[in-house]
Amino acid sequence: MSDKLVLYFSVYGTARAVAEEIVRQTGADIAEIKPAVPYDNDRSHYNALAKLAKKEHDEDMRPAIAWTLPVAEHETIYIGYPMWWYTFPMIIYTLFDQYDFSGKTIIPFNTHMGSGDGGTYATIRKLAPNATVLDGLPVEMKQAERGDAQRIVQWLKSIGQI
Ligand SMILES: Cc1cc2nc3c(=O)[nH]c(=O)nc-3n(C[C@H](O)[C@H](O)[C@H](O)COP(=O)(O)O)c2cc1C
Repeated sequence: MSDKLVLYFSVYGTARAVAEEIVRQTGADIAEIKPAVPYDNDRSHYNALAKLAKKEHDEDMRPAIAWTLPVAEHETIYIGYPMWWYTFPMIIYTLFDQYDFSGKTIIPFNTHMGSGDGGTYATIRKLAPNATVLDGLPVEMKQAERGDAQRIVQWLKSIGQI
């Protein structure tokens, strides 16, 4: 078992692709932040997903995570997610509500279509005040789909992880 863990939430697969590249580069363990109620990953149903995501955001919902994540067993935890409505999906709040990241190192990353990290890395610093949060990496969706190994490698080097 590695002392590093990559946690990711992904519906269309792009945050998963970045997560898998981080695993290839670092040898970290990986675990999906899997929703108890799956989201529709058919991209032609985007409007329905957008509507549901907006409702979850506006009603400050906490979608349940399907299983227990091995947070306690790891020291360095990557947390990856797509931008949804200019912030992270509400299931990331569920993650911070349910797990204690005190004393751990968090390394955020996200996929997006123009919003960058949308201020979510600053939000993570607020949600986990007793963790060390390193500089994250926003990856544009198309880049993530093409595979963005070089940028991921550069980033991991810049934060001293490889
Ligand atoms: C419901 C929803 C809301 C989104 N909102 C934003 C947004 O506010 N800003 C942005 O840059 N991209 C937004 N996107 C685009 C996603 O961040 C992008 O498609 C991402 O690569 C999806 O990650 P995934 O493949 O891991 O699910 C949104 C996508 C969805 C489905």
